Amino acid sequence: MERTLVLVKPDGVQRGLIGEVIVRLERRGLRLVAAKFIAVSQELAETHYAIHKGKPFYDGLIRYITSAPVMAMVWEGPNAVAAVRQTMGATRPTEAAPGSLRHDFALEIGRNLTHASDTVENGEKEVALWFKSEELVTWGREIDRWVFEK
Ligand code: RTP
Ligand code: MG
Repeated sequence: MERTLVLVKPDGVQRGLIGEVIVRLERRGLRLVAAKFIAVSQELAETHYAIHKGKPFYDGLIRYITSAPVMAMVWEGPNAVAAVRQTMGATRPTEAAPGSLRHDFALEIGRNLTHASDTVENGEKEVALWFKSEELVTWGREIDRWVFEK
């Protein structure tokens, strides 16, 4: 089953939007695999955002993600990576589709509420970076056959 890392970033936590993010992912039919509320270390922030090192927004991004606690989660389901990115909306909130989280709750790219893995491969890498294997819960729901075709 495809898995993706979701972060409710510090602005989402401060604004009381953890529940809103979870509601939308649950309602979509995705299944929660793991969750933890943590202060992000400098080291974890730098590893997670290593791909952006050297870009003009990098220092601000590291300050942002380490500025207050985040809610880190793993969600799974068919097409989980694409589905979650769609539920979040485009990176720049003014380009996010109406009805998406970033459209409905954000204005600026540097305060865009959430993170979601951008490819299946990065999803696997990010899940392994943020969670130990024993923190990932394998389980089923009675309704799974009404949400997942296979
Ligand atoms: P994320 O990784 O947070 O899910 O967002 P994303 O894939 O949609 O965007 P990405 O290109 O990976 O950028 C990571 C985060 O860096 C901040 N950013 N700021 N000021 C800027 O031009 C700029 N560009 C990116 C955003 O917080 C973005 O989510
Ligand atoms: Mg990204």
